[in-house]
Amino acid sequence: MTQLTSISFAETDIDQIAGHAGRIAVLVDPEGRLDAGARRVNKLMRGALARFVESPKFSKAKAGDAMTLAYPSGLAADAVDVVCMPKGVTKIQGRAAGASLAKVRGGADILILAAGNRHVAEIAYGAVVRDYRFDDHKSKPEPREGAIKVMCSKPDAAAEAAAPLLAIAEGAFMTRDLTNAPANVLTTTAFAEQLAEMKTLGLKVEVLDEDQLASLGMRTLLCVGQGSDSPSHVVVMRWDGGDKDAAPLALVGKGVVFDTGGISLKPGVGMEDMTMDMGGAGVVAGVMRSLALRKAKANVVGLVGIVENMPSGNAVRPGDVITSMKGDTVEVINTDAEGRLVLCDVMWYAQERFKPAAMIDLATLTGAIIVGLGHENAGVFSNDDALCNAFLKAAKTEGEGAWRMPLGQAYDDMLKSRIADMKNIGGRAAGSVTAAQFLQRFVQDGIPWIHLDIAGVASVKSETALAPSGATGWGVAALNRLVSDMFEKE
Ligand code: BES
Ligand code: MN
Ligand code: ZN
Repeated sequence: MTQLTSISFAETDIDQIAGHAGRIAVLVDPEGRLDAGARRVNKLMRGALARFVESPKFSKAKAGDAMTLAYPSGLAADAVDVVCMPKGVTKIQGRAAGASLAKVRGGADILILAAGNRHVAEIAYGAVVRDYRFDDHKSKPEPREGAIKVMCSKPDAAAEAAAPLLAIAEGAFMTRDLTNAPANVLTTTAFAEQLAEMKTLGLKVEVLDEDQLASLGMRTLLCVGQGSDSPSHVVVMRWDGGDKDAAPLALVGKGVVFDTGGISLKPGVGMEDMTMDMGGAGVVAGVMRSLALRKAKANVVGLVGIVENMPSGNAVRPGDVITSMKGDTVEVINTDAEGRLVLCDVMWYAQERFKPAAMIDLATLTGAIIVGLGHENAGVFSNDDALCNAFLKAAKTEGEGAWRMPLGQAYDDMLKSRIADMKNIGGRAAGSVTAAQFLQRFVQDGIPWIHLDIAGVASVKSETALAPSGATGWGVAALNRLVSDMFEKE
């Protein structure tokens, strides 16, 4: 797994500034006075920092932007990064400041002079979570060098505040690594094995094989994988950090390691992007990792359905009728609408086995959600306003876009089948909503449920606030926050 850049917190020692090799970052309020560290930098630079801060260039900076003064005289450092930090910046802007520093850092050691800044932990989080590169498959990767050192007024408190945030970063890195991995590397079996390794963190992990899935009756899940030479799996990850008898939150993820569309084959152009079709399962894994790392006081169970959707002589055909674990029959009109076939069985199993207090599923489920919401927001579908609003609030706090979409009987009616209980697609209209309606048929009465369609946000072509292009790790922070807001005991 991609390692976090190492980060440490220490008391401010202005005598170390002149000799620090690497980069030095100062946080500057355009309206305010320079803090003690910045004053020392300014003095050693013979006033160049103050001149820059007064310049028109710096006056155009937005909160969180970093601007570089290269090879400053009077300092051993190669650069001074001047971060715009007006009084009253938000946590999100604090993270943006850290992210700006991660982007300029290169492989250098960076010393961040944070003085008494109240967002020091958020700055640290931004610096670490943005410092991600997926170079597993570069034959000559750039070496991962350098560390982050933060000088601040209360280093112990800062380190304590940063620890749970670094747990989120580590979870998000796992999600990104999994979601970025090509399908010949992250096979169904390799995926299951990586999840099983999380036992070392104190998670209970079970890997179910095809025979077990067949005895459980998970035929809709199995039909998706039946055209592939790689075996299907369901992996159950449990974090029991809460009261012994408290019902868990269930997280369910779509883990299609590659989606060709099956017999309803996708067009060739862009098909390589379907290596990210296990993104929902990737987020579930990342959240479970974060919860274990920060020893969350909550019971959470993560279940992922891991399959590969391939065309072959054994593959499921359009027109086939399959019986789900619930017992409802599904007419498979389009084998490319496979995610819902995987999720419906895993969701049913999650409810039958764990009687969860609530259930949230995540899936790169529909191209239609990208048409609707682009890459800014995930689609949020829910049968429960309280749970849904709590999630939307958590996502907003974490800066992860999420937008509620409708559900309703008229959409459900679009799934009617002449020969079976339902079809697996609705038609061209409202494709994301009918997909959600399909899933809702597998939600038991009284279970608060959210479906997150993350097709547009799991992996993107340009960088986002806290991630380079590629897999984002969207959702790890929001779900982690939802757990602490709603499911964690004091
Ligand atoms: N994995 C895709 C959805 C997807 C599309 C994810 C683009 C990420 C980016 C899903 O399995 C799929 O193929 N959905 C179909 C459904 C259709 C056949 C009803 C789609 O969106 O076209
Ligand atoms: Mn598909
Ligand atoms: Zn898919």
